[in-house]
Amino acid sequence: MAKRKRASGKKLGHDPFKDMDLDWMEEEEPAVEMAAEKAEASAITSEPAPTAVPVTAVASPPRPEATFHFPADFKWGVATAAHQVEGDNINNDWWAWEQEEGHIKDGGQSKRACNWWENAEADFDRAAKLGLNAMRLSVEWSRIEPRPGEFDDAALARYSEMLQGLRARAIEPMVTLHHFTNPLWLVDEGGWENPETVDRFTRYARRVVEALGQHCDLWCTINEPNVYGFLGYVDGTWPPGQPDQKTAMLVIRHMLLAHAAAYWEIHDVQPDARIGLAHNMRILDPADPGSRLDRRAAKVADRVFNQAILTALTKGRWTLPLGFGLAWKLRGTLDWIGLNYYTRDLVAFDRTQKESLYTRRLHARDAELLDGDYGEFYPHGIFRCLKRLDRLGLPIYVTENGIPDDDGDQRPRYLLTHLHEMWHAVQLCYPVMGYYHWTLVDNFEWAEGWSLRFGLYSLSLKNKSRKPRQSAQLYADLIHANAITPQIIDAYAPQLRAELLPG
Ligand code: FCB
Repeated sequence: MAKRKRASGKKLGHDPFKDMDLDWMEEEEPAVEMAAEKAEASAITSEPAPTAVPVTAVASPPRPEATFHFPADFKWGVATAAHQVEGDNINNDWWAWEQEEGHIKDGGQSKRACNWWENAEADFDRAAKLGLNAMRLSVEWSRIEPRPGEFDDAALARYSEMLQGLRARAIEPMVTLHHFTNPLWLVDEGGWENPETVDRFTRYARRVVEALGQHCDLWCTINEPNVYGFLGYVDGTWPPGQPDQKTAMLVIRHMLLAHAAAYWEIHDVQPDARIGLAHNMRILDPADPGSRLDRRAAKVADRVFNQAILTALTKGRWTLPLGFGLAWKLRGTLDWIGLNYYTRDLVAFDRTQKESLYTRRLHARDAELLDGDYGEFYPHGIFRCLKRLDRLGLPIYVTENGIPDDDGDQRPRYLLTHLHEMWHAVQLCYPVMGYYHWTLVDNFEWAEGWSLRFGLYSLSLKNKSRKPRQSAQLYADLIHANAITPQIIDAYAPQLRAELLPG
C-alpha cells in the first residue's frame, strides 16, 4: 500500500476549521429524508430490534448542528480473536490454563465460545447487516500447525472459507496471526522465551499467507506484545503465570523479532501485502501533575508500556526496559501501525512498589469508571494516542476500541465520544484509515472469563443466541451516514449534545 504522503508545508496539529465561517452549514436537513434514511438503516435483523429513539420523534428547535464526516474510503469494522470466538481450541495454552482452578474469574471457560469454528458465517451476516466493510479476525496457530512442521490443510481450508465468506459480504478481512494463544507443543519447547520461536512463527506465517493470501492482503502479525508480556510474565495472571520481569522483556523482544522476520517472509510470498502490528496503548498521566515524582513515575510507566515497543519497531533501537543497543532488524517492518485503545490510568510514585518500578495506578477522583474496574471512561485518550502515532509517518488503523458494558448504559456514549475524538484526528490529517470496534458479539474475555461483555450483540451462554444492544443500531447508523450527525447524537445520547455540538 502506498504510504500516505503529507502535503509539503502542511502544518499538522493545526485545526483547519478553527477560524472558518461555518454558519452556512447550519441549515437543517429535511426531516423526511432523514426519516427515510433511518428506516433503511434500521432493518438490522429479524432479531429483537434495539431500542433506538425514532429520529422523527426528536423535537428540533433551532439548535447547533454539525455533521462530523469521515473519509469516503474509511474502513468501519469490528475486531475479534480466534480463541475468544471459535470454541474448542483444545490444543493451545489458554485452553489448558482455563482447566486449572483459580485462573479464570467465576471459573469460566471458553468451551464452545461463540461457535465460530462451525458457524462464523451467522455473525458475518450480522456484521453485513450493520453495514460493516471491514473485520479483524485471527487465525489459531494450534489448529493450523497441530504438530511442529505439520500443517492442517482442513483447518486452512476452513479459514479460507471464512475469508471468502467475508469477501462475499463486501467485508475486507484483516487477519491477525498471533492473538495471545500458543500451540501446546510450542509451549513445551519454551514458548516465546525460546529464541527459536522466531523462526517457528515465521514458518507458520509463511504457510498461512501462502494458503490464504488469495483472499487477504491485510495482515497483523502479532497482537499486543506488551499486554502478552506483562500479564503472562509480570502480573502472572495469564499463562504461563510465571512472574519474572527479565523474562517478560525477553519474550517481548522475541515477539518483535518474530514480527520483523514474518514481515519480510510475508512480503516475499505476497509483495503487495500490507503488514502491521496491533499495539495496546494506555494513557498514563501523573496522579498529581504538580508532583515531580508522580510526573517521573508516569513517564517511566509510559516508556515501559507504550514507547519502548514503538521505538524498537520504528527506530530500530532497544530502549529500557527492553534492553540497550541496536535492533536494526526491526526497522522498516511496519506498513501500518494498529492502535488498541481502551482507557487511561493515573500513575503515582510509591516507594513501596519495587515490583512495579515504584509506581502505583489509580483513577481520577471524578472519573467515570468502566465496568469490572476496567479503567476510566476517557475518550480524549484515543486522540492523544493517534497524535502520538501520527509522528511515525505510517497509516494508522484503530485495531481495537471498546467497552465492557453488559447493560449497555455507557456504550453509546463511549462509541460516540471516541469516534468524535477520532474524527478530530482525521481532520488534522492524521492518517487514520479505519476503526475496528471491539467487538461484534460478547466473547470469552481471557482471565475475566464471561464476566466482561464487550459486544455490540449480547450472547446467551445457555443457547448461544445473540441480541443486538442499542449500540449495534447506533454503529449501523454511524456507518450508514459515514458521519456523526446531530440526529444520531439526539437519538442515542442526547446528553452529549452540549459537549459535541457546543454551538
Ligand atoms: C484487548 C485484547 C482483546 C480483548 C480486548 C478487550 O487487549 O487484544 O483480545 O481482550 O482487550
